Parts: sequence; structure tokens; C-alpha cells
Amino acid sequence: MPNLAADTIKEGLFTHIVGRRLLYYQELPSTMDEAARLARQDAEEGTVVIAETQSAGRGRQGRSWVSQPGNLLLSALFRPTLAQLPFISIIGGLAAARAIRKTAALEPRLKWPNDVLLHQRKAAGILAESAIAGAAVWYAVLGIGINVASGGAALPDMQPPAVGVNEAAGREIARELLLRQLLVELDTLYRQLQHGVTPLPEWRGLLQGLGQRMAVTSGGQSFEGVAEDVDETGNLLLRLDNGELQTFTSGDATLHR
Ligand code: BTN
Repeated sequence: MPNLAADTIKEGLFTHIVGRRLLYYQELPSTMDEAARLARQDAEEGTVVIAETQSAGRGRQGRSWVSQPGNLLLSALFRPTLAQLPFISIIGGLAAARAIRKTAALEPRLKWPNDVLLHQRKAAGILAESAIAGAAVWYAVLGIGINVASGGAALPDMQPPAVGVNEAAGREIARELLLRQLLVELDTLYRQLQHGVTPLPEWRGLLQGLGQRMAVTSGGQSFEGVAEDVDETGNLLLRLDNGELQTFTSGDATLHR
């Protein structure tokens, strides 16, 4: 498995913000922590931290993120406004879906809150963490993990089950092309966000299960109902069986089919 050297990735990377500083590590505890550490030291927005492997990779809801060499693990640093903050995760899911579609000719879908699915299996996970100072965002770190070379067999206990992009495509996808496309998409979406363009309609269009029954666990509680829609910042609107409309800002969703 050839290394993803930072120089090779930078070659031919035409972005304005995302990736203007690119750091590559063979192993880190978590790219989230390294990006946050750099953020606290005033690193510029667009700094991207990539690792081949992580010894303490983390996912949403306190879960760990397990990955093998040959996948993609990265965190990108942003300094958004408070109004832009809810869209950082959203542009992450959308950028991953677009990059997979363009480099692997697959049609990824999204499962709320932001899992990237290929053939109903999880190909990528998105994690956004931020620090607020007073009424302003100090920094936001967007973490993206894409299963490329390994997925299902290597990660047997995932829910939803995992899949690698290569497995879903039935061929080997050049990892550096996928990574470069991901950074380009992120850059485009973030700059559009800065100009007031919301990624929501495209993101919503990729969401599975709107209008269908769904089970949601959030804050240790379980809910069932019909996923009516998402609101203007991507929160899930679930019509519970008692008729009440409940808004979820975070949680895990299971689609009923
Ligand atoms: C999830 O679906 O639970 C989110 C997974 C996010 C994983 C990525 S891998 C790169 C970055 N570093 C981490 O420790 N987590 C994120």
C-alpha cells in the first residue's frame, strides 16, 4: 500500500482554503486531536491533518472509529461563524458523497445525521467538533473517515455494516484521487458557505428515509415515528406516533423498510 505523502497529495491540488497546509502522519492517536491542537496554536483555516492509522480514532456518540491502512482518515480545520457552524458537518458528508461519486462512479446516499452509505452499508463517517469562545466560534474540526481498501470484512461489528469504496466499486480506486477530490469538494462547499450558499438542498436530496418510518435514539432514549423532513440546519424532524413533531440535533437513526 503506497504511502500518501503530503507532497504527492499537494501536487495538482487546486484549492483556495482547504489543504493550503497539509500534514501527513503514519500514525496518530486521532487526527481530531492534532487538528484541534494546531487550531489552539492559531493554525490557519484549511489546515488538513491526515493519518494512515489512528490508535484512538473516534466516531460520533462516544464510539471509536476503527480503520486499517489503505483507508482515508483526516481532519480539516475551519474558522466558521456561529451561523455557518451547523453546516460544517453537512459539507463534510456532501463532499465525501460527491468525491466518491466522481472518482468511483457510485451513487452514495446519506443516512441522518451524516453517514455516507453505498448499497446500504457505511462507507464513510463524519464527525464535527468545535470550540466556542464567548459568542464566536474559535475553531471547528471536521473529521472524515472513508473506508476505501477495507470495510465489511475488516469491520464485522459495525452498525450499519461497513463497506469499502473498492469493494462497492468492484475495482481499486486510486486513493490519492479520492482524497484530492474530497479536498476540492470541501473547498468549494466551504467557500460557497462563506458566500451564503447553503449546502442543504443537495444534502437533503441525498438523505435516505425522508417520509418513511424511522427509529431514533438520542440522549439515551428511543423514539419512533415518520421522518417528515430536516429543518434548515439539518436537524431531523420526526413525527412521533402521538402526533408530536420532535426535533433531533443529534442521535442515531435506523430506517424501517
Ligand atoms: C462516525 O460515523 O461515527 C464518525 C466517524 C469519524 C471518523 C473520522 S476518521 C478521521 C477523524 N479522526 C477521528 O478520530 N475521527 C474522525
